[in-house]
Amino acid sequence: MKREQWKSQLGFLLAAVGSAIGLGNIWRFSYMAYDNGGGAFLIPYLTALLTAGIPLLILEFGMGHERVGSAPLACAKIKKNWEWLGWWAVTFVMFGIVLYYTVVIAWCLNFFVLSFNLGWGNDPDSYFFKDFLSVSKAPSEIGQIRSPIFAALVIVWFMNWFVLHRGVQKGIELANKIFMPFLFFLTAVLVFWSLTLDGAMDGIRAYLAPDFSKLSEPKVWIDAYSQIFFTLSLGFGIMIAYASYLPEKSNISKNAILTGLINSGYSLFAGLGVFSVLGFMATSQEKPISEIVSQSIGLAFVAYPKAVSLIPGGNLFGAIFFLCLVLAGLSSSISIIEAFTSAMVDKFGLRRKYFISAVSILGFLGSIIFATQAGLLWLDIVDHFLTHYGLVVVGIFECILVGWFFRLKVLRKHINRISSFKLGTWWDIAIKYFVPLVLGIILCWDLFNELSKPYGGYSWTSLILIGAGWVLLSLLAAFILASRPWKTEQNKTSRRSL
Ligand code: PHE
Repeated sequence: MKREQWKSQLGFLLAAVGSAIGLGNIWRFSYMAYDNGGGAFLIPYLTALLTAGIPLLILEFGMGHERVGSAPLACAKIKKNWEWLGWWAVTFVMFGIVLYYTVVIAWCLNFFVLSFNLGWGNDPDSYFFKDFLSVSKAPSEIGQIRSPIFAALVIVWFMNWFVLHRGVQKGIELANKIFMPFLFFLTAVLVFWSLTLDGAMDGIRAYLAPDFSKLSEPKVWIDAYSQIFFTLSLGFGIMIAYASYLPEKSNISKNAILTGLINSGYSLFAGLGVFSVLGFMATSQEKPISEIVSQSIGLAFVAYPKAVSLIPGGNLFGAIFFLCLVLAGLSSSISIIEAFTSAMVDKFGLRRKYFISAVSILGFLGSIIFATQAGLLWLDIVDHFLTHYGLVVVGIFECILVGWFFRLKVLRKHINRISSFKLGTWWDIAIKYFVPLVLGIILCWDLFNELSKPYGGYSWTSLILIGAGWVLLSLLAAFILASRPWKTEQNKTSRRSL
């Protein structure tokens, strides 16, 4: 069977950008900048992008392209007994991250509809946590499935299925060619609109006024590096799968650089909108910005709805905002499911169309736990563990596998032969020493914090059972999948150099 291919380089670039730009760009980056020295944060952030993000992205693109395979296949073709590493990446995103990611998209879909008549009322805080999620007291109290979330979840998984079952070109590529320009347009409308609001400039000042003294804090640098890995969707096997659909002649390093720049540019730009709105709220409520800012869920589902109720014509503003989150979210969830699908098709020779249907149903069923009253608590724990440990450990091993057990130079030559931007030996140094070192520091830092106090005030039992358990189960699943015999000849065939 011939491997599917992107129709154009632009299609590939948009798909990679679609995976990278997600909820994190809109609700995480700007707060992080604000909290970590404002404009001065750009120094560690851009340093992280150039010294670790782009080099690792080039590595993942290079692995997928040169070995012509999804993460497990690419790992297996590098060293046979490292196949588990690829499986681990794709299983913990498929049976972890995407399960709650889709639930958050489902919340956004609900809030999109609520925007039209400001359905969250006068007290968005209590609306979100009490009426909408009806959060239970502890992760062990599952309670009931929330029906509006459940209904939206059906739609979200249907959309994932619909795009993916059409294949790489007619599904993923086409969807991103529509979603991405649309997302950029809507974001621009939102940002320019918010800049006209009273107090917008105060918000922007809070967002970008540099505080260089912060740069001496290690936490600021660690945050910058962690954000870069997550935002570029690295360590999940996604970029490997996407690059495996590239034709022989593909400008690998240029595409990696563009993906990195567009993704970070988008974050920075979206942050202008976020902080203009916060500035507007601070002015209209006569409160200091520091009392208003929040991030992630609190920003999107509490602070923003509050502001939207105050803006003249806010309904439309809210609707556009939540639509942006839905678009950004969907293009990321699609990429996750594809990373797993492509791995299963590579190894077991399954018919893609059937498999997509099966995995979408399975994913949907798995998501339901996050749509219950304990959903928010489970989401919080699972997200913490998977993004802190799964991603970081995969990243370290990827660098070790390719940097130390494989001829990295061969891969570099392969990339240089087809790319316009030529990599020097600095890239080898980044992959062999620098990136694993940084990831190692992040890992130690996280472990230290983990053990010093229970994350989020949860009980140790819930953290170990749900969080650590999830990480270990996905690892076990990875070893099992890796131990199964190959049903295709893929692991024996086609690589592009050597
Ligand atoms: N990069 C995406 C973001 O910043 C998140 C993501 C995570 C995408 C995992 C795919 C897989 O939101």
